[in-house]
Amino acid sequence: MVFYFTATGNSLYAAQQLDEELASIAHELRKPASERHYQAKAIGIVVPLYEFDLPRPVEEFILSSTFNTDYFYVVSTYGMHHGGIAERVAARLTTAGRRVDYYNTVIMLDNALNVFDMDEQRKLDPEKRVDEQLAAVRADIDARRHYIQPATQVEVDFYEGYMKKPFDLHPHDDDPLYHVGDACIGCGTCSRVCPMGCIRIEDGRPVYDYDRCANCYACIHACPTKAIHYVRYDEPNPNARYRNPHVTLADLIAANCQI
Ligand SMILES: Cc1cc2nc3c(=O)[nH]c(=O)nc-3n(C[C@H](O)[C@H](O)[C@H](O)COP(=O)(O)O)c2cc1C
Ligand code: SF4
Ligand code: SF4
Repeated sequence: MVFYFTATGNSLYAAQQLDEELASIAHELRKPASERHYQAKAIGIVVPLYEFDLPRPVEEFILSSTFNTDYFYVVSTYGMHHGGIAERVAARLTTAGRRVDYYNTVIMLDNALNVFDMDEQRKLDPEKRVDEQLAAVRADIDARRHYIQPATQVEVDFYEGYMKKPFDLHPHDDDPLYHVGDACIGCGTCSRVCPMGCIRIEDGRPVYDYDRCANCYACIHACPTKAIHYVRYDEPNPNARYRNPHVTLADLIAANCQI
């Protein structure tokens, strides 16, 4: 059994390669914690890496659910640098009472459109050999390998350097991160792909409630008219958006839709 969280489909695709029984964390989080008890021979968590860490709702899900399993694994998908997440987060989860048997990372396309041009990112994709990485992780899991990916000094330096001067990526009610421009046609796609149910459509326009925003960019990437943009940072390419090529818009809506 594998739980996934996804904004643009990378982690959904990765989860599909690792197990046949999938469950969406966005959906599971709608249940009260008292109903979130899971039992399986192996249980996995496959999620994107945000600022060298787990997405906040994913950590909330792991810590507030119970997992009855012989083998608990976590895979973080990322785009450029993982910052030694496996050692750091496995230690944190262990301290919080969660046993982690396996933690690995898989490099895929980087969907951080506040930093990267998605068209340029697509050109790097073949070098990342995603399917080879996923096959290796699958073999590890099938063999119930015990492994926590070591944090190299290069990755620790990236993490520590970033933490000295992180981006302010988190939206606030009084200082929104995203702006919806005149190109909006009121289609509602942004609200349907939001894993946290933060967007409602009023008078044909999206209205954000940032309280539970996971800062995942699903809304920005999925907008068919590219009407949603950053307010606080200039995007390298406001006309380039991304969805994993193996994943359809309908898949993302099925994974995330809260309405
Ligand atoms: C807010 C945010 C922060 C991110 N931070 C990092 C990062 O620190 N390092 C990195 O290599 N990739 C980073 N990424 C890229 C994603 O981890 C990567 O593209 C992931 O595979 C996306 O998965 P998804 O398609 O399932 O949403 C970030 C993406 C977002 C949206
Ligand atoms: S997805 Fe884009 S066009 Fe559709 S409602 Fe949202 S902002 Fe408007
Ligand atoms: S509002 Fe946008 S960025 Fe925030 S959780 Fe929803 S889809 Fe992700």
